[in-house]
Amino acid sequence: MTSDMPENVPARSTVRQTRLDSYVDRYAARTKGMSASEIRALFAVASRPEVVSLAGGMPNIAGLPLDVVGNAIGDLVRDNGAVAMQYGSGQGDPKLREQICDVMSLEGIEAHPDDVVITVGSQQAVDLVTRVFCDPGDVVICEAPSYVGALGVFRAYQCEVVHVAMDDDGVQPEALEQAIAAVAAAGKKAKFFYTIPNFHNPAGVSLSLERRSRVLEICQRAGLLVLEDNPYGLLGFEGDPVRAMRADDSEGIIYLGSFSKTFAPGFRVGWALAPHAVREKLVLAQESATLCPPVFSQLAISSYLSRGRAMLPRAVTNRVAYVPGTAFFADGFGAQCMRLSYCHPTPERITEGVRRLGAVIKEELELRQTFGAVAPGHGREYDAPGPELT
Ligand SMILES: Cc1ncc(COP(=O)(O)O)c(C=O)c1O
Repeated sequence: MTSDMPENVPARSTVRQTRLDSYVDRYAARTKGMSASEIRALFAVASRPEVVSLAGGMPNIAGLPLDVVGNAIGDLVRDNGAVAMQYGSGQGDPKLREQICDVMSLEGIEAHPDDVVITVGSQQAVDLVTRVFCDPGDVVICEAPSYVGALGVFRAYQCEVVHVAMDDDGVQPEALEQAIAAVAAAGKKAKFFYTIPNFHNPAGVSLSLERRSRVLEICQRAGLLVLEDNPYGLLGFEGDPVRAMRADDSEGIIYLGSFSKTFAPGFRVGWALAPHAVREKLVLAQESATLCPPVFSQLAISSYLSRGRAMLPRAVTNRVAYVPGTAFFADGFGAQCMRLSYCHPTPERITEGVRRLGAVIKEELELRQTFGAVAPGHGREYDAPGPELT
């Protein structure tokens, strides 16, 4: 197997690598479903400079304004380190849960922060939901194909996966209906339908609006819970984000979100929005798995979102970057300013960048109309004309 160790770490001796596993008879039955992910092995190779990687779905972190992130994290340690480096709530930081509700509102979801459970990436949310719902032998219905990380979780909990065909408009409702009927006819229990409705990994397609309501109707009729995994919903290149299925059903759906694709996966912060009773169970499962999700990461994301009022991550999602004005003041001023640098991009790129930025600002203004003014202290400005920000 390929090693992901740095080059200066000596390889283990061949004798150790080839030794038979002396614990083989003692592992729990569930480990039979656990196999090394081909993706994990690939990631190690893909980072080599000579490889043009079309493999791993790694976000382009270099596109983030790392100096702004660095300032936010520095301030966090200095101003709030005692909290950021302490254990926290098993459900997740209350302020970040509120901000997550703002993010989800972009997809038409009206949610209460009480119903949000923060997780270690949405990967852990898939794990917790499966842990809470599935006994060995239970069926999980999935699109064909489906996300490799979720399939690994279902295998680890000894679930049987039943695939349902997709086409260019996403999962085929008739095929879903047939699968639900076939599972019931076989005397088995389907515990949930796992779906990635937007920019499907790996199929790349999105579920059409018309099908969203049909899929919901089918699952509601069958009493089948929907697990709506949506890490990519805000990444569309054009138009507004598509309305989430969860926006139309708060009881039959668990919605999963993540900051891995809109910000950075290294923080490992995702979330589940669940019906109230399920939320209780997820918090208990979360506490037994990790005690609490990583406080430092949560507060870093929260403060970053507050600084740019969530506009900068949205701008980066829309493939345009700027430096918020707050980066140029030591005292919290500058929230109404941004620095746009025109020394490097070509005139064509500048035109395109300004077009994208215009769309982001329009959306920001709409959000401000919905959510009101920024938090106290954030919109303060000096009366005098600002200095040259070079
Ligand atoms: C569909 C889907 N769900 C969940 C995840 C897990 O994301 P994370 O745990 O980084 O939030 C991924 C990662 O690529 C994904 O593609």
